[in-house]
Amino acid sequence: MTGQVVVVTGAASGIGEELAVQLARDWTIVAADLPARLPELRRLADAHALHVVAADVSDPEQVEALFVAACRLGPLAGSVNCAGVTRVAHLTETSPELYDSLMAVNLKGNFLMLRAAALALRREQMPGSIVAITSINAVAGLPDQAVYTAAKAAVNSLVTAAAVECGPYGIRVNAIAPGSTRTAGMNPRAGDDPAAVMTIPMRRVGYPRDIVGPTRFLLSEESAYVTGSVLTVDGGLMHMRSSYRPRPVDRNHAEAGRG
Ligand SMILES: NC(=O)c1ccc[n+]([C@@H]2O[C@H](COP(=O)([O-])OP(=O)(O)OC[C@H]3O[C@@H](n4cnc5c(N)ncnc54)[C@H](O)[C@@H]3O)[C@@H](O)[C@H]2O)c1
Repeated sequence: MTGQVVVVTGAASGIGEELAVQLARDWTIVAADLPARLPELRRLADAHALHVVAADVSDPEQVEALFVAACRLGPLAGSVNCAGVTRVAHLTETSPELYDSLMAVNLKGNFLMLRAAALALRREQMPGSIVAITSINAVAGLPDQAVYTAAKAAVNSLVTAAAVECGPYGIRVNAIAPGSTRTAGMNPRAGDDPAAVMTIPMRRVGYPRDIVGPTRFLLSEESAYVTGSVLTVDGGLMHMRSSYRPRPVDRNHAEAGRG
């Protein structure tokens, strides 16, 4: 435990919840999510000794207040920007209002978090590490997720540009791109039915725990010279040729590969 503080957004469920709980072994964690998710956050805080702040990542004032609260707890080490939303809707059924709401959380939310974390670290004259959770969708679109896909691609670009700008201050900025990961936020069409699983070389969907090690690595000194990277955590899905018909594998063998 370093005593340094890491902010984790989207911490009330799924990947963010697992990250907040597991990373608390190494850092003082500020678990943040929407005000409506405070009951879940409080339960998490009671069970795992986390600090909790309600913050909508698309609201600049709430993001600023989040970092003020985090910096009161100790020296800031960085943030994990995990809050995200998706909706399954064909492009032609995507209203301008839906576009705005997806962009507000997935892109503007990441921008506000990145900016606030970088400002706080610079103010404290601290090096640090910022990790954005994007998606393999950023480079390989899934049908009916056009705006989500565009937002995640833009976040990857934001990460590389921010890495270039923040490098001179000792602030590293990287992304993790999960593949299909079993959570409430998982796209039901990318689910874990047997046919979908056969398209994943590791022959299983991901679990939130699969994202923990790569995030810990990017936050830690182990990755001191890594910045501007997008680390894919998808069981090899991105490298699978869609026209390939996989041969069945022994189920027990595939289960043995669970993380
Ligand atoms: N599950 C997957 O298959 C998958 C794949 C690739 C990428 N991702 C990404 O991983 C991240 C976590 O997704 P998940 O699957 O755990 O989903 P999830 O729905 O379980 O968790 C997302 C969390 O973000 C919070 N959130 C939403 N809007 C917010 C806002 N404006 N401010 C603060 N918090 C907000 C939600 O309340 C929720 O707790 C997302 O960025 C998602 O895009 C997930």
